[in-house]
Parts: sequence; structure tokens; C-alpha cells
Amino acid sequence: MIPDEKVREVADRTSIVEVVSDYLPLRRAGSNYLGLCPFHSEKTPSFTVNPAKEIFHCFGCGVGGNAFSFVMRIEGLSFPESVKLLARKTGVEIEERQLTPAERKSQDEYARLLRINELAASYYRSVLLNSTEGEAAREYLVARSVGDDVSEAYGLGFAPDRWDGLAKHLKNNSVEIDDALKLGILRKSENGLRDLFRNRLIFPIKDTRGQVIAFAGRVLDAALPKYINSPESPLYHKSSVLFGLEMALQSIRTSNSAIIVEGYFDHLALYRAGVHNVVATCGTALTSTHSSLLKRHAEKVYTLFDSDSAGKKATIRSMELFLEQRLPVYVISLPAKDDPDSFLATHSRDEFIGLLDKSRPAFEYFVRSVLAETTPDSVDSKVRIIDEIVPRFRKISDSIERDLYEKEICRLLGITVHAFRKRMSGGKIVPRDIQNFNNHAPTDSIQDTLLALLLNYHEARAEIMRSSLETLFNDDYLELANFLVANLSDSDSSGNLSHLTEQITKPELKALFSRIMVSDAYLADIDWRSVLSECTKSHEKKALASIKEIAGRLAVLEPDSIEYKQLLEQADALRTRKSKL
Ligand code: UTP
Ligand code: MN
Repeated sequence: MIPDEKVREVADRTSIVEVVSDYLPLRRAGSNYLGLCPFHSEKTPSFTVNPAKEIFHCFGCGVGGNAFSFVMRIEGLSFPESVKLLARKTGVEIEERQLTPAERKSQDEYARLLRINELAASYYRSVLLNSTEGEAAREYLVARSVGDDVSEAYGLGFAPDRWDGLAKHLKNNSVEIDDALKLGILRKSENGLRDLFRNRLIFPIKDTRGQVIAFAGRVLDAALPKYINSPESPLYHKSSVLFGLEMALQSIRTSNSAIIVEGYFDHLALYRAGVHNVVATCGTALTSTHSSLLKRHAEKVYTLFDSDSAGKKATIRSMELFLEQRLPVYVISLPAKDDPDSFLATHSRDEFIGLLDKSRPAFEYFVRSVLAETTPDSVDSKVRIIDEIVPRFRKISDSIERDLYEKEICRLLGITVHAFRKRMSGGKIVPRDIQNFNNHAPTDSIQDTLLALLLNYHEARAEIMRSSLETLFNDDYLELANFLVANLSDSDSSGNLSHLTEQITKPELKALFSRIMVSDAYLADIDWRSVLSECTKSHEKKALASIKEIAGRLAVLEPDSIEYKQLLEQADALRTRKSKL
């Protein structure tokens, strides 16, 4: 325990500018200092240090705090550890408060237990590397393409097929047997002490300082259980440990994101492929302790679970935890039947990065998976879907995100926002809350009018066909326009077109066609030339407006981010379209 006065003394003697300068160059800018943020990647400095207030803040990623918070984050330390580090730098001597006898006892115990795990880890490692008993495990690793470097990085080991291999080793090292029993790696039986792990490949589980706190052991064949883990102990609480975190910290920090997988071998496969910002849970579901631990280190997380139904469930469950933490969470989807290990066995790292780039926000993934299970084709089914979505929707704490998803959900379901909110507050949805029953697509009045012209006026049709359809229509409108142009003949007049609907197979296009057909009465007896030229003009304006809007959004994005690239492509496409007008 560090007394409060000491913490204040360290703080008083610390200069945040000096502390930060040990990690990155800062330059003076008015009353502040500026540098490139070490917590996210950027090209123009937005990492700002205010020496008068002893505060830092990054305008790019939003991270901020005092000197202790800076050291905690950049070194991955706890608060007391960061105080001690800065105390050493500033020459403050910290005499820790005298521990109570109970505290001293538990501290001594902690150290003894750690030593035992270290002894066990090096025993398993040497069996794997040097003993004839390790032969089968060495072959197993070769068969799974785990090279020596990877084996070394994880400190993999092998527990021989014997009752007392570890027991003997620990006794020879004069370990207190009661301690080893507490760790669960030895157990008492009628015939004396027994090893917990026998004939298993050993994964040491480490804390963020790299100290071995537990083990997982995998069979070499198809025997069950596939894995056993050290039980809970004073060193190991599985609900708060993330496997591989200490190997991942550096890469999590530079990429500002973390990928969560379920299996030890998945972790290993990604590591081997050069993807290092990865952690795995240790045979448990993700907990809120896990998610808050990740929030301390990353600004964004990706889930990467198997594509089966268990993986789906785990994805949605972890989404809820991260929504509560306000930590943006994305889902990396693997091809059916793949897990990360099998995917990387047959695909390159770049192909994996391709999947990562295509990851979708978890909430979107969730809404889609609800819709895949229940088709929203009746009031009842829509109510059921909403009721499934609402509890999770409530967990979205960011108001902009809520707005976006609210609109998206209503669009997908064909209900009004009013109806959605009514249901959120426990109200009943009635049929009149449901709009555009068969028509989920957004409507666009300009394209509506152009389609109506295409259907109603021969000359307008000819004119429209002269310009390229791509410059006038997009999405469903374009598809329908192409269909019409291909299927309309000169003799067709709007009175005899209804048969076309039979040839349209896509429900969205059918709906669009019928909507235009029934609502174009207002086009009767108009000057089609002026309407057409109005339409093309306002189309052009709209394209211009969205280029402006895109430019505005581009200005605040990182030039090397994915969003930036995508927006840039959109802007280019718009410009091309505009220039064809
Ligand atoms: P998997 O069966 O997918 O294991 O379980 P894996 O690590 O990917 O191994 P391979 O590739 O099949 O060899 C995923 C995770 O679930 C936990 C482990 O953490 C495992 O890594 N698990 C699985 C257990 O704790 N016990 C088990 O019996 C099985
Ligand atoms: Mn697996």
C-alpha cells in the first residue's frame, strides 16, 4: 500500500512533459505541447500536453489523464505500479505502509505460489523439449505446424503420461506441498500425490507481467475432456484473465484495437500469422471483468468466434458487455465451418486482414441474425423481433449510434420510429404502425419521378435512354430502370404495363414498380421536358451536396483508416456520376 501523501509527493515532483518526452517527441505550441499520439496511429499531431495543468489529451482518440494515467496506459501498469515507476524517476523514496500480518501472509503466499507455477512451467517445458516422453507432443506440434519459435513464445510444455512426474519435481525442489495443492496442479489421492495434468500439451496462462498464474492442458488425441485448466486459486481467477494479453499489449496499443477469440489454438494461429493484438478467454464465456480489462487497453474490439451457433451466441453475449462499456465492438465473420485456426491454415494473413476490413458493427450483426431467424411478414412477427431487439438496443449508450440503429431497425422492419418507441415504452403495436408493408427500400422522389416519366412518356423514355441510366438511377431504381428499358416497346403505353410485374422476381423491385404505377397520376398532362430537366438538375445538386458532406467527414478522419478510403471512393464515384450529367 502506498500512502496518499507519497502519491501526492510523486505527483508534485513529476513533470508530465518530461514523463511523456521519454516516450515521444513533443514540441511547444502556445501554452501546450504537441506530439503524435502513442495510443492510436496518426500522421498529424493531436496528442496535447498541458504543463500548467499537468494533463494530457488526444483530440484524435479521446484518451486523456495525468502522468500516472499516461504511464499506466503506455506501460500497461496498475496505478500503484505507475506511482512506483514515477517515484523512482523523481527520486521519491516510497516506504510502503507496514503491511498488516494478514497482508504480509497473503503476499508471501502469492510469491510462493508464483514460484511453484514457474517451477512447473519449466518442468513441462523441458519434458517437451528434451525428454523421450515428450516425443508424441513434439510430433503433435509438427503436425499442427507449430514451429519452435511459436512454441517458445508461448512457453508450451508437455505433461508426461505419469501419475507423479510433476509431484516428484516439486518435491525435489522442496516445495510446500500444501501450496501446490492450493494451485490444484497436484491432488491428494489414496495412493499419494497425483499430477493434475497427465499426457497433455501445456499452455501456461500468464498475467500482464508475464508471470505464470495457471495452466491449460490439451489432450493429443480425441479423448475427452479436450482441455483441463488449473482450478481457481489465489493466483488465478478465470473470469478476469485473458489468455495472451501480455503478448498482445504492445500490438493492442499500436493498433488501438483487440481481437477476441475463444480457443488457445486460435490465438496461436493468429500469432503465427503475425496478428498479435489478440486475446482469448480461458474456457469461459466473456465476463464484464474481461470487457473492462480490455477497455483499459483498447479503443475498439473485434470478436472472432466460430461460425457455428455457439459462436453466434457468444458474439451476441459479448456485444452486450461491450455496449455497456461503450466500447465499439465489431464482428469478424468467418466462412461457414471455419474457425480462426482452420481459416489461417488455408488462407494468408492478407486474406484475414480482408475479413477484418469487412467486419461489421456487432449490433448490426445482431439485428441481421434476429431477422434471419424470424421473417418480418406480419404484425406478430414484427412485434416478436422488436421485443428481441429492444433489451439490447437499450444498452447502446451512445446517442448518435442509437439514432442510427433506430432508423435502420425501422427501415428493415417497415415500421415507424413512433411505433418502435411506443413498443420500447411497453406500448402495443397495431397494424397502422406498420408502413410500406412490402417496401423496405428508402424512397427518392427524384428517381420516383424519373421512373414515372419512363413509364408514361414515349419521348421522355427515349430521352432518358440516351443518357446513361447509371447517372440517373441507383440501387433498386437502377435495376428496375434497366429492366423496363429492356422490356418496354414503343407501342407500350402506361395503360398496358401491369403484366410486367409478373416478370419481376425481386420483391423489392416489384414493390417499387407497383408503387410508381399507382402513384403517378400527378404526372398526367404535364410538360415532361421541364420535369425531366428539373429532375436532372436536382439530381446534380444532390450529388454535389453529398460530395460536400463527404469532404466534411473526410476532414476529421485518419487518412489511413478504412472509413477514409471508403468515403474517398464514394466521393470519386459521385464526381464521375456528376460529370456525366
Ligand atoms: P475448441 O474445442 O475450439 O479448442 O474450444 P481449440 O483451442 O480451438 O483447439 P483445437 O483447435 O480444436 O485443437 C475453444 C476453447 O474452449 C475451451 C478452451 O479454452 C478452448 O481453447 N475449452 C474447450 C475448454 O476449456 N475445455 C474443453 O474441453 C474444450
Ligand atoms: Mn477451436
